[in-house]
This record gives sequence, structure tokens and C-alpha cells, in this order.
Amino acid sequence: LPNAVYAPFNAYDKQDKQICLHNTRVDLLQQVYNWVDGQDERCIFWLKGWAGTGKSTIARTMARKYFTEQRLGASFFFSRGGGDVGHADKFATSIAKQLANNIPTARQYICDAITKGNDIPNQSLRDQWHQLVLGPLSKLDGNGCPDPYVLVIDALDECDKDNNIQIILNLLADARSLETVRLRIFLTSRPEIQIRYVFGQIPDTEYKNIVLHNISQSTIEHDIYVFLESKLGEIQRKHELCEDWPGNEAITRLVLKAAGLFIWAATACRFIDEGGSLISPDRLSNILQGDSSNTKPEKELNEIYTKVLNNSVGAGLEQREKDKAYELLRETLGAIVALYSPLSTPSLAKLLHIPEQKVRGVLGGLHSILDVPQDSIHLLRLHHPSFRDFLLSRERCEDRNFWVDEKKAHQELADHCMRLMSTSLKQYMCGVEAPGILVTDIETSQIEQSLPAEIQYACLYWVQHIQKSGTQVLDDDQVHCFLQKHLLHWLEALAWMGKVSAAIYAVTSLEAIASVGKILIL
Ligand SMILES: Nc1ncnc2c1ncn2[C@@H]1O[C@H](COP(=O)(O)OP(=O)(O)OP(=O)(O)O)[C@@H](O)[C@H]1O
Ligand SMILES: [Mg+2]
Repeated sequence: LPNAVYAPFNAYDKQDKQICLHNTRVDLLQQVYNWVDGQDERCIFWLKGWAGTGKSTIARTMARKYFTEQRLGASFFFSRGGGDVGHADKFATSIAKQLANNIPTARQYICDAITKGNDIPNQSLRDQWHQLVLGPLSKLDGNGCPDPYVLVIDALDECDKDNNIQIILNLLADARSLETVRLRIFLTSRPEIQIRYVFGQIPDTEYKNIVLHNISQSTIEHDIYVFLESKLGEIQRKHELCEDWPGNEAITRLVLKAAGLFIWAATACRFIDEGGSLISPDRLSNILQGDSSNTKPEKELNEIYTKVLNNSVGAGLEQREKDKAYELLRETLGAIVALYSPLSTPSLAKLLHIPEQKVRGVLGGLHSILDVPQDSIHLLRLHHPSFRDFLLSRERCEDRNFWVDEKKAHQELADHCMRLMSTSLKQYMCGVEAPGILVTDIETSQIEQSLPAEIQYACLYWVQHIQKSGTQVLDDDQVHCFLQKHLLHWLEALAWMGKVSAAIYAVTSLEAIASVGKILIL
């Protein structure tokens, strides 16, 4: 089955992500655990909350607990820009695959459904779900599994199409039809209008819901206090700072500044930590400056992101040098937040046509908001999706040195993809000339060598970047010239990657943005 490898809560890319710190979220977690094992008829628990309030951390805690107890059916953590976890295409099949692995008694029924079904992965999400998930689960004998199984779905708002969000929610609600086994679905999302709308159509008797940013202020403040006390304590020991640093008063002021946003507290701690033994106390004072009353949580978050960005551009530079640094920063960060699937640092550098050292240099001061691996294998990622929202919003990112124009970022990526493909793609690019040879006859390493990650990325996503840039396709323009020369090479590359179906969607999308009367003839 097609599988989104980064979907589960414990996928490799999430190994540094934490679960709720001890003594935080105590009541909330207890409430969720009681619902899982209680007799409540409602099979969906929807946890909604603003960006950075701690939803994913709670979802991970849930998933970890039930995984340890061998009661986790499956988990799917959506993530925008994360490749397969940024959309719903592999949602049902990934859940089915995990169910088959986690519930031994369901395994055979799922395998039977695959054998019996006709080309299930290419069917609609609804058909996939009914054949691969509900069908097999409905055959389970309830006596063998008296406790409910848990599904954890995080960040449904990060799934790319509103339509699919609606379909998924309706499919999840179908779990109530199961008679012999019980399925408990824990779902988190930001309170986006589309999700609120779909839930509005599902009767209240079907789901339970909690608004994370509305739970009592004293509880939230207590939890953030515990978090800051623990993280700053670690920093104090690591950098051998004074024993009484930072002190209760400083922590209390930080709690007020965080204004309910865990992500603010987490970013502040990383920023302070990055200062090392010499600078971290100054960084703490810097953060504490200014009035913290009556500010909106988002404003404080904007401020700390701006602070980190400003800090990353060397203070001693001349204005001309600074302008250059800002430009490079915008270009690199713009690409990172607009990518459809993450890349390693060397691959990103090649895609952007910038020397790797320069990319590492520009990202060097941003470790409190970016995860920049030292090696060339692991992928560059944002610590948190709220940084993307901040950088792309003209209102929130007030400093024009940093604001990223999303359309422009997509246009630049589209240009880079086409440049890279034009210079790399050719006939027989994997050195195999025999027509009719099967991809499976060739070593994967040979394909990866001929088509490294940045070229595969360009082949898969160039059309989506053009679409998002808002430009039209015209006769004799860059796209037309590229296709005239490289259409077959591009198809050959996709075929080696086993992704030739992506070309069909891509060509249809291009047709939709070709200017009227000047349709491309391929
Ligand atoms: N209970 C907790 N214990 C320890 N750390 C936490 C806790 N809750 C949140 N955090 C920290 O705060 C950060 C932000 O939280 P999280 O990613 O869970 O927010 P979110 O609500 O999922 O945001 P978004 O809507 O943008 O996805 C986490 O990366 C983690 O470092
Ligand atoms: Mg989240």
C-alpha cells in the first residue's frame, strides 16, 4: 500500500519532538483518557486551539501512551510542506498499513481486502477507507479486544485541500457504525473556518470538543511556568550559570509574555540557549524588556521571531552588506517555507544555485527556529509551522527585511526547478538504453545517483510552484520552451522515480493556467 512514512507519531523525523512535560496538561489528559475508556457514545474527540498552544504535543503524548499499551491503532500527523503528510492522498492506505501492523487480528482481513479489491490505492478516499479500514475492523470479534483502539490525527488543518478535510472528517465519523470493536478518534486542528463548518454539520452527539486556548488561564500559566522552569534549569546547568539564575520573578514575567502560547516559551528558551554561557543571560534580559501586559499572544510571537531574525544578521556589517544578507536570508527562508517537501541543506543549496557554505552561513544564527542538520542526509525543517505563517504574513512580519512574498517565492522556486531540470535532464539519464526495461530491474542507488533529491524535487513540484506563483503560461515563454525541449526527458525521469502519474496531474494543471486562445499543444 502507498504509505506516508512520516505520518506516525514516532516517525524518524519526529524523534526530537517531545511529549507533555511531567505535571503539565494533567487535567486535560485525564479527561481524554477517561473518554477513551469510558462509555461516552461520541467516538471523536476534537481538540482545537490557536497555533502554538500545544495541540501536537498533547497528540504525541496520547499516541505514545496508547502505543505503549498496544492500543494505538494508527496515527497520522499532517504537516504542510512535508510531502506525503501535507495532503490526503495516502491517508487511508497509511492508516490501513499501521492498523495491519498494530492489530494482529486485523492484519489478515486487511490483506484479504487488498487481494480482493481492484486497484484500491487509486480509488476514492471513501472507497479506500471502507475497504481497507472499516470493512476489516467490522470483521473483528469484539471478545478478543474489549478495550477501544485509538486513532490519533494531528493538524487536520495542515492537509492541503479543504474538500479532503471534509471527506476525512465524514469518514472518521463513520467509525460509529462499528459494532464489535470500538474506535476512539483523537483529532486536533487549529480552529479554521472550514473545519468549524464541517463539524457544524456533524451532530453534537457525535463528537466531544475542547478549546485549548480557552481552558482556565491559571492552568495554562501553571503549565507554561513548569515548562520554563524546567528548560531554563537545563540551560543554567548546561552553561554553568549562577545557581539562582533565572529566578522565580523572571520566570513569572516570561509566563506573562508567553500569553498562553507554548511555542513562544519554547522559542524563547531555544534563543536563550543559543547564546551560550556568555550571552544567554543578556538574551533573557533582552526578551524581558518591554511591557508584557495587554499584548496579544500573536504579537509577542511576532516579536520573538523578529528578534531571532535580526540577531542572525551580524551587527557589525555595513548597510550594503546587511542588505545583501537580508536578500539572501529572504531567498533562502522563502524557499524553505514554500517547499512542498523538505530537502537536505546541500540539496536546497543546489536547487537555489547558492554555494552550500553560504546557505549554512545564512541559516547559522537561526537554530532557535530551524532544525538545520549538520550532515547532508537529514532534512532541513522548521521547528514549528507558526514561523511559516509569520514569515508569509505582511501584517505580522512588519520588518520588510524579512517578509516573504509567497507568490514571488513560488515563482523563484519554479524558475530554479526549470533551470535545474534543463541542465540535468536528458535521454537515457540513468544510463539504460534498452526500451522496455523495468524500473525494478535497476538498482535504486543507480537511480538516486542519476536523479539526486533536488532534481527529483524539481520534476515533481515545478508545476505546483508555477500554479502558486499566479502566473499564466504563454506561447514561447519559459515553460513552453522547456516542454518543447525536455517533455520526454521529464517523463522519463518521473518514470524512473515511479511517479509518472504525477505528470498527468501536472499537465492538466498547466492546461488550466495556459492563457486562453494560446493553449499549449504538447
Ligand atoms: N505540555 C508541554 N510540555 C512540554 N512542551 C510543550 C508542551 N506543550 C507545548 N510544548 C512546546 O511548545 C511547542 C509548540 O507546541 P505544539 O507544536 O504542540 O503546538 P500546536 O498547538 O500543535 O501548534 P500548531 O497549531 O502551529 O501546530 C512544542 O514544540 C513544544 O516544544
Ligand atoms: Mg501542531
